[in-house]
Amino acid sequence: MTKPAKPSALHDARIEAVLERLHSEADRQLGALLFHYLPKLPGLFFGKGIQWDETKTGFYRDKYIPIERDQGEFLYLLARSLNAKTMVEFGTSFGISTIYLATAVRDNGGGVVIGTEIVPEKVTQARKNIADAGLETYAEIREGDALETLKTLKQPIDLVLMDGWANLAIEVLKLVDPHIRPGGVIVSDNVGTFKEALQSYVAFLQNPASRYRSSTLALKGGTEFSVKVG
Ligand SMILES: C[S@@+](CC[C@H](N)C(=O)[O-])C[C@H]1O[C@@H](n2cnc3c(N)ncnc32)[C@H](O)[C@@H]1O
Repeated sequence: MTKPAKPSALHDARIEAVLERLHSEADRQLGALLFHYLPKLPGLFFGKGIQWDETKTGFYRDKYIPIERDQGEFLYLLARSLNAKTMVEFGTSFGISTIYLATAVRDNGGGVVIGTEIVPEKVTQARKNIADAGLETYAEIREGDALETLKTLKQPIDLVLMDGWANLAIEVLKLVDPHIRPGGVIVSDNVGTFKEALQSYVAFLQNPASRYRSSTLALKGGTEFSVKVG
């Protein structure tokens, strides 16, 4: 189910070729994912989203489940506009989103994307994919549970991509929030797909009493865009 190529904002043939290969491999897994979700699909039609019941990596150990191409292009441009030097990613998988973000770091003049991934085989492959794109200098993938590996953040963070398991989103937010600079941004994938599981997380970000201003964008059926204002 490869989509027709459209011009990329990245303007780097080597990186675009790696991304296209990875997106195509991910697209080939869509049948297996659809079959897995089949019993849960009514939730989507009744506006509740898919129930979150996967707290272990099980079925997902070899699944890409990446951000979509449009989300990647959006993240690249957003990171460029923020002149982002330090970014954190909850959920690296095989490195697709990391490659979009690391390209922006490189084009911004240097810095690091701190990725997190709990499945060791995915970490190995993500590092290889990032190196294939020539971006290994701009990404550090921390292997293990993000609730542990993100305890040692120090730098002011310009951008966070939240794309790990929905049931951990609030706990991860607690770890990264103190380090996000004013004007920094959180982009959260899947808030439409896993609507109920991420309800309290989104409610926190959208609460006027929080230090964020936040809105759900119609990217991939629901991507939360949150700006730290305080
Ligand atoms: C939706 S995928 C990430 C996709 C990736 N951002 C991309 O666009 O290519 C979510 C990933 O989070 C990982 N994950 C789940 N729980 C985690 C945890 N506690 N710590 C680190 N990674 C975790 C999963 O193994 C999975 O690979």
